[in-house]
Amino acid sequence: MCIRDRIMPIYEIGLEELVARNVKAERLSFTTSYKDALKEAEYVFICVGTPSDVDGQADLRYVRMAAESIADAMDHPIIIINKSTVPVGTGDWVADIIRRRRPDVPEFAVVSCPEFLREGSAIADFMSPDRTVLGSTDREAAEKVAQLHLPLRSSIMITDLRTAEMIKYASNAFLATKISFINEIANVCEALGADVKEVAYGMGLDKRIGRHFLDAGLGWGGSCFPKDVKALAYMAETEGRHPHLLHAVMDINADQRDAPVRKVKEMLDGKVKGKVIGLMGLAFKPNTDDMRDAPSIDIARRLLREGAKVRAYDPVAMEVARNILPEVEMTGSAYDMAKGADALILITEWNEFKHLDLGRIKTLMNQPILMDGRNVYDPAAVRQLGFEYRAIGRGYDGEGVE
Ligand code: UDX
Repeated sequence: MCIRDRIMPIYEIGLEELVARNVKAERLSFTTSYKDALKEAEYVFICVGTPSDVDGQADLRYVRMAAESIADAMDHPIIIINKSTVPVGTGDWVADIIRRRRPDVPEFAVVSCPEFLREGSAIADFMSPDRTVLGSTDREAAEKVAQLHLPLRSSIMITDLRTAEMIKYASNAFLATKISFINEIANVCEALGADVKEVAYGMGLDKRIGRHFLDAGLGWGGSCFPKDVKALAYMAETEGRHPHLLHAVMDINADQRDAPVRKVKEMLDGKVKGKVIGLMGLAFKPNTDDMRDAPSIDIARRLLREGAKVRAYDPVAMEVARNILPEVEMTGSAYDMAKGADALILITEWNEFKHLDLGRIKTLMNQPILMDGRNVYDPAAVRQLGFEYRAIGRGYDGEGVE
């Protein structure tokens, strides 16, 4: 797989065209040579992965490799802009690596510029960010990077290196906290007969709270929230602090993946063994084929452990999922998956699922059991069609308490 051959390493609508257009206009080219990439460059961006290692610490080997390669290839002054999510203090560490590797290195500055884009809407998020955060010990370098970002017309904040690095972790941890909070509220709603969708709407009308990131469901996955919350907790613990809230946020998220299996089991009168269960969606969220830390993986494995026959359909993630979940049968459509199924679990809220002919789905199934893990459907309408339906935190929906 090679981006030089226009094969995109990730799926996003419009990405291939965007890359092709800019390559054609000679604004964009790709190389594996740092010497070629840095030739005459005023700025160099570090945008490498920082995965979690076993104890939750961010693995900085790719950042180190990039810093060393920059040190080796630099032949004129340059501003190094770090976009990777890195532990607080990494900017200083990068500068140290470069100076130690090449004491005669040309002048350089390190500026932290954390990236806040989301997968699936990366292009739009990059082009119109809510804010651009810049951090550096070199104010002049930060001002230059601010100039570079002016066409994006966002508010620009300049601060010190460590504070900029912390803003990224604190932002992701806060968003993950919002989701775990609403999932906890969803569980209470279920017990007390309230509807979490309405609760989130009502809460969101308060501008201090806001409606974003209050969708209860199967919790957060993907390549950022899980590793960043873990890394922030690790950083705090390394300094002797006790990040109680971050641990609760992670625990709630892990528990949330049990809910659909437990509810389907209840609807199947406790018997999952031998039952055919279809998973609607596999990607960690819609509009991406990313399976990293996707709730579908845990849910599929739990069902398989209990002896279920698990099938799945996802509009784009099945290729990637096949290697991770080889025991799961991949199907050609939601309708194919429904044939003879004893229960369906909606895991990823793809638009395609919102527009399914549920009446047809019901006639294809062996038993019309539907577990809506993302609160996509109208409970009354689905029950009207004859489904035994459960969702997340929708205790009161006119049909009684879940
Ligand atoms: C996230 C941040 O949003 C982005 O700013 C950062 O740069 C990278 O991490 P991303 O991982 O692409 O982006 O996805 P996002 O849309 O934020 O969703 C993350 C997870 O939270 C998904 O699993 C999604 O299903 C879940 N989620 C999101 C909810 O469960 N409820 C919500 O209300 C919102």
